[in-house]
Amino acid sequence: MSKASENLPAPSGEPGYDPDYAPDYAPYYDPYDYEIDANPHPTWKRLRDEAPVYRNEKLDFYALSRFGDVMDASLDNERFSSSHGTVLELMTEEPGQSPMMIWQDPPDHTRLRKLVSRAFSPRRIGELEPRIRKLCREYLEPLRASGGFDYIEEFGAKLPVMVISSLLGVPEEDHDQVRVWTDELLHRDPGENKGSRRHEEISQQLWGYFAGYVAERRKNPTDDMMSVLIASEIEMPDGSRRKLDDTELLSFIGLLSGAGNETVARFLGWSATSLARFPDERRKLVSNPALIPSGVEEILRYEAPSPVQARKLTQDVELHGETLPRGARVLLLTASAGRDDREYPDPDRLDITRKIDRHVSLGYGLHFCLGASLARLEARVALEETLLCFPEWEVDWEGTEMVHTSTVRGYAKVPIRF
Ligand code: HEM
Repeated sequence: MSKASENLPAPSGEPGYDPDYAPDYAPYYDPYDYEIDANPHPTWKRLRDEAPVYRNEKLDFYALSRFGDVMDASLDNERFSSSHGTVLELMTEEPGQSPMMIWQDPPDHTRLRKLVSRAFSPRRIGELEPRIRKLCREYLEPLRASGGFDYIEEFGAKLPVMVISSLLGVPEEDHDQVRVWTDELLHRDPGENKGSRRHEEISQQLWGYFAGYVAERRKNPTDDMMSVLIASEIEMPDGSRRKLDDTELLSFIGLLSGAGNETVARFLGWSATSLARFPDERRKLVSNPALIPSGVEEILRYEAPSPVQARKLTQDVELHGETLPRGARVLLLTASAGRDDREYPDPDRLDITRKIDRHVSLGYGLHFCLGASLARLEARVALEETLLCFPEWEVDWEGTEMVHTSTVRGYAKVPIRF
């Protein structure tokens, strides 16, 4: 057991939780430590209070944990660059190594974002509501009489993959196959790593499928998102215009699947566990479903599914009396910001009627989540349908399992009983 995780108190909301927990050693944060990851809130609180500019020498990063600092850094993309990657272990020495806009700065980011924003118009996203509701009902209704099931395996992990396929315009008869490949890609046998032969093969099948789909849409365009992207033109620095090539289109599909599937699945896990820990809040949502949209924002604040965004400094930055040097890798602890009592009173309490003017759980500034309106739509409809089918449930805590990735935080398994 690492020193930092000794005697960690119970997760917030559970009996024994002590928000004033303060051990007598300096705070230590390691994003890869499973024990800290199981309940990082006491560690993050210590960083906010004792080390707002936290330095981890061993892993060579700084971390900002206060709401105001995460917000300011998210808005300051000139000094806090995304172009070396935003996942600590994948960051590159040289900028601009990735075709994905999430790992780019202006002007490249601006060009791509402008192009795909059109395909993410509120009208196009809103049109998905009936499909999302139908999917939720198809998953949840047969489970009504079951007495219990795994909320992630049977629902939370399935829904977002199907929704992204609908968004891209993938034919409905292929959705299940795409979901099976995606599930298999995300699944890790014990000791297996991402580059295993099995993953390689599945990855080739999935990308082969999408390459075929792009080719088909080039020949027979419709009005789906893929056809819109194929037809769109990107403006180059010299003023000329060109269409996206296949690599760019496929990397956009990859970005949507990567950014849109895991995050929503983790959000749904946090909803199932947080509402079970705060049953009074759940009762309010059941008796007044109009509160669900604000409940979604509160759950996002309370447990941010994408808790850490990395940046690289293009200049020295002075903060809280310290100098963070040019070239430093800085982690923006989005999920810590959501629990900062400098911004939110009584932050460890889930309060679905809380008035939240702003949060950083969907990012902020130029890289604000492109899929935010889709995430909010999926979250709202999924919660509406869940609470209709299951107004109350208990979590079998012994059976829960966390996923361990450096990009998302949350549950892989949440068995519930009702
Ligand atoms: C609850 C679910 C979600 C959460 C918590 C979430 C969180 C975030 C966060 C924190 C960022 C900012 C990253 C940064 O600043 O480096 C982001 C960006 C992004 N998200 Fe989401 N996201 C969610 C759902 C989705 C969905 C459903 C999609 C797509 C279908 C999506 C697509 C994207 C994309 C493309 C970006 C990059 C935007 C840019 O670089 O301009 N996200 N998301």
